[in-house]
This record gives sequence, C-alpha cells and structure tokens, in this order.
Amino acid sequence: MQTNRDEGNVVDPALVPTLTLSSGAKMPALGLGTFGSDRYSGAQIAEAVEDAAALGYRHFDCASVYRNEPEIGAALRNVVEQIGISRDQLWITSKVWNDCHDKVEEACRKSLKDLQLDYLDLYLVHWPFPNYHAPGVGVDARDPHAVPYIHEHYMRTWKQMEQLQQKGLVRHIGTSNMTVPKLRLLLRDAEIPPAVNEMELHPHFQQSSLFRFVVEHNIAPVGYSPMGSPSRPERDRTPDDTVDMDDPVIVAIANRLGIHPAVVCVKWAVQHGHAAIPFSVKRSQYLATLQAVVSEELTAEEMGAIEGIDKNNRLIKGQVFLWPGSTSWEDLWDLDGNIKSAEK
Ligand SMILES: NC(=O)c1ccc[n+]([C@@H]2O[C@H](COP(=O)([O-])OP(=O)(O)OC[C@H]3O[C@@H](n4cnc5c(N)ncnc54)[C@H](OP(=O)(O)O)[C@@H]3O)[C@@H](O)[C@H]2O)c1
Repeated sequence: MQTNRDEGNVVDPALVPTLTLSSGAKMPALGLGTFGSDRYSGAQIAEAVEDAAALGYRHFDCASVYRNEPEIGAALRNVVEQIGISRDQLWITSKVWNDCHDKVEEACRKSLKDLQLDYLDLYLVHWPFPNYHAPGVGVDARDPHAVPYIHEHYMRTWKQMEQLQQKGLVRHIGTSNMTVPKLRLLLRDAEIPPAVNEMELHPHFQQSSLFRFVVEHNIAPVGYSPMGSPSRPERDRTPDDTVDMDDPVIVAIANRLGIHPAVVCVKWAVQHGHAAIPFSVKRSQYLATLQAVVSEELTAEEMGAIEGIDKNNRLIKGQVFLWPGSTSWEDLWDLDGNIKSAEK
C-alpha cells in the first residue's frame, strides 16, 4: 500500500462534478478505470483502487473480463471497513462479458461475489456481440462462431439485464460499444432503457452524433480511454492512430495550466458533460487527474479549440469481434447508419 497520504493530497469528493442519470442518481464524472491490459497485475490495480478511494475517488469502472475483480473486491472491502467510506458513497460499475450473454444473472452474481458487494450501481453489456476471444490474443484472432449484431439475441440479453435491476442486484443497467442504429432498436424494444452508454471518447475521437443521440435520449455518456489510451498494447495500435496528448492544442492548454496533457483531456471530458474513467496505477497520475477536475476550468475558447481537433480516430477498433465473412473492423460500427448483417 502506498503511504504518505497527507491532507493536502486528499480531494473532497463532494467537489467532483457529477452526472445526473435518468433515475435521479448522481454518478461522479471522474472514475478510475481498472483494465490493466497485460501491463499491470490485479494486485497493482487493487492497490490503486484502495489508495485512489482514500484520496477522493468514488467511482470505479470494473469488468469481469479484466480478470481482477477478486483483487478489487478485497480492496473495496478495505475501502469500506478500514478507510470508512460507506458503500452508498461509492459508484461501482461492472460489465457482462460476451460469453455470458445467455447467463447474465450468473455472471452478475459472480462479479458481485468477487467484488464483495450486495449490489452494483451500474451493470453494462460490455459489447453488443456474443463473440468471444481468449484474453490477450492478437487482432487477427477470430472466434469461428462469431456472429454480427442480432437484435433478437441482444434483447434476450437485455431482458436478463432488466431482471437484474428489478431484483435489486443492480441499480442501473446500460450499454457499451453501441451505435445509434443499435440504440434506436434497443430504445424501441426495452422495458427499462439504458441509463448509461459507455463509449470511446477523447479529443481526437469525439463521436459527436452518438454523443448527441445519447444525451437527447436521457442516457448518460461515460467516456473510456479518455486520454487516448497512450499505453494500450501493440495489438491495439495501427499506423494511422493519432496521439491526443501530442496535439498542439492540448499541449498549449497543459502548458498554461502547468498540468500534463493527459489531464487536459480529462478536464475537457468532464466540462464537455460526460464522465471519464482514466486508468492509472501511479499515484502521481491519478492524484493529478483528480485534482485537475476540481480546479480552474478550461476557458470557452479552449473548449472550442478542443472541439476543433476531432480526428475521428477510433483506437479500440474491436477487430477480434469480427465474424466470418466480415471484411473490416468498420463493420462493427454501422458507419453508414445500417447495422451490418452476415450477408454483407
Ligand atoms: N467499455 C469498454 O469496452 C472499455 C474499453 C476500453 C477501456 N475501458 C475502460 O476505460 C479505462 C481507461 O481506458 P484506457 O486505459 O484504455 O485509456 P486511458 O485512460 O486514456 O489511458 C490510460 C494511460 O494513460 C496514462 N496516464 C493516466 N493518468 C495519467 C496522468 N495523470 N498523466 C499522464 N499520463 C497518465 C497511463 O499510462 P502509463 O501506465 O504508461 O503511465 C495509463 O496507463 C479502462 O481502464 C477501462 O476501465 C472500457
């Protein structure tokens, strides 16, 4: 456990901006991501979760596929029992993985057990495809049983999500990695609409149509990879990828404020009106990020300048979820407004 938490390091969580969900619940607009990829162990991430809570973080973005929920669960127990933060002050998200779309309750109960919780604040369908791949495989790996989006199947999964909320195992349900056409179908057919959509969002990938759509439909946007995922594995990099943190607009703002460009990206996110869930296991980083979201705001000119640097640069392309016959990762994202089916 890292030490030397002096009072100067602790941020009053009440100062962290929140997003109000359709239920009226308030979700902290800054959360800590917990996907260490193949770089950080579960123990390191759990230690960061506990320390970050002591410093003022209240929102943690988890998932069973990150394979560290048992370690994070032990950390959360310490957060409640030793640090003395009550459960209702925390916002814990988890996600059902693609191989559990037909057994959502079982998957949710496993996450609850691992995380040592009675309920989740938010449970997401991690990807809208049941396509499974082994952890850590290269981008060319394919699940031979992979299928395109099949709305009937998604609704079967969503029904199970709704039941979790009705049973009180989760307070809110939501989506992740969705598109406007898929969300339209879900909103048409859902009994309980999604409270949140988790999506890739950073200055070079602002997804403004999808962003507008979710806000207009009372779905709170949560942005993943908010710093442009600078440390993502090689398998998630392509030669055309741009680097948010090197953008002269971001660097100039960082220089004015004396903060790291990565942190500027998170300040933009929170001011822009979505929640950001940056990952870090380094106290200097997650503390700087937390301090930055409660300090001097970006100016309207700076916000406008960042709006102007969108490069439509999707980093998490999802190639491993492609189905036999699909040609490009773009097939996953319905770029022409139509959901790709197996024949296309
Ligand atoms: N729903 C989904 O499908 C989905 C997909 C992807 C991610 N996520 C969630 O989003 C979270 C964050 O995404 P991400 O890890 O891809 O990207 P990210 O948060 O944009 O980038 C994280 C990296 O940025 C660096 N960093 C963090 N804080 C910093 C600071 N204050 N100053 C300078 N550098 C800093 C760290 O690099 P070093 O470690 O090299 O120092 C860290 O590993 C994940 O952990 C996960 O919870 C969800």
